[in-house]
Amino acid sequence: MSITILGIESSCDDTSASVIKDGFLLSNVTANQDVHKAYGGVVPELASRAHQQNIIPVVDQAMKQANVSKKDITAIAFTRGPGLLGSLLVGTSFAKSFSLAMDIPLVEVNHLQGHILAHFIKEYEKENRLPEFPFLCLLVSGGHTQLVVIKNHLEMGVIGQTIDDAAGEAFDKCAKVIGLSYPGGPLIDKNAKVGNKDAFSFSKPRIKDLDYSFSGLKTSFLYFIRDSIKENPDFIKENMMDLCASIQHTIVEILMDKLEKAVKQTGIKKIAIAGGVSANSGLQNAMKDRAVKYGWDIFIPDFKFTTDNAAMIAITGYYKYLNKEFASQDIAPLARFPF
Ligand code: KG4
Ligand code: ZN
Repeated sequence: MSITILGIESSCDDTSASVIKDGFLLSNVTANQDVHKAYGGVVPELASRAHQQNIIPVVDQAMKQANVSKKDITAIAFTRGPGLLGSLLVGTSFAKSFSLAMDIPLVEVNHLQGHILAHFIKEYEKENRLPEFPFLCLLVSGGHTQLVVIKNHLEMGVIGQTIDDAAGEAFDKCAKVIGLSYPGGPLIDKNAKVGNKDAFSFSKPRIKDLDYSFSGLKTSFLYFIRDSIKENPDFIKENMMDLCASIQHTIVEILMDKLEKAVKQTGIKKIAIAGGVSANSGLQNAMKDRAVKYGWDIFIPDFKFTTDNAAMIAITGYYKYLNKEFASQDIAPLARFPF
């Protein structure tokens, strides 16, 4: 019997629904929220209101695109956390109601696990290589930066993580300092492509073991810009591309230094990247460079699975369903939800 999972993602500012049948993607529909652009970051109250407006049309669209009806859904999977509580509540309440109304199992999903398992989404008429276990994953998003060892679909352990800001936050905050709109990561990436990465240098943090830190870099970037503007009011305008290339290069090298250390420590050479920042071309190029230099077997997600999406929640729900890991109706979302 085939297994059809409806996945729901609403942890931050994207409302997304996806249908996955036997591990193959049938649809993945996401409504982004432009309402936050004017504020330079996500406003939680506005995010939960927008989720409420979007959730029904997004689910409806996902089912239509997948050509399935409510009765075809075997189980519903939703993001339980981590994320913004008000946002998570919308997806959680929807999933619970759907499960109750259709009398089908409810599956809770950790958003971070979802980002990693996005590598297991299969697509019709597309050859994609799935990572073999165990593999290492550098999970880099707007809220998290972690090095994770993946033993199997459902067993994973964090071996390093940021002690302050996430890599995506570093991108977004540095972007804001030079006047780019939110989220600044993709804009820095775009500008960096035509800039000189060696034009400016920023010091890298010295943090023990496999942990990361990005708050110092953000502050030193802010002071550097402030001092430079004092000497030349047009400094940002005249150096925009080089500033983007240099800050991106620094963030990527910080990420890669610890990843290389993790490879040495664990002896695992199968390496994936996941999360919003894994869309970054500088990071992807650095991975390709290490693959050639050190013989790493690398896994880079398809662009549509890098930032928040419900397909990653549906695929995780699929593996949890196979393992009979179901949630009960009294389940509550969690703003903090470590592996
Ligand atoms: O995974 P995600 O969609 O949401 C969270 O779970 O946080 O990640 C969003 C983050 C934002 O910080 C955004 O600026 C960053 O991913 N991002 C990028 C790129 N695309 C998205 N950062 C650098 N380069 C990109 N191309
Ligand atoms: Zn995410």
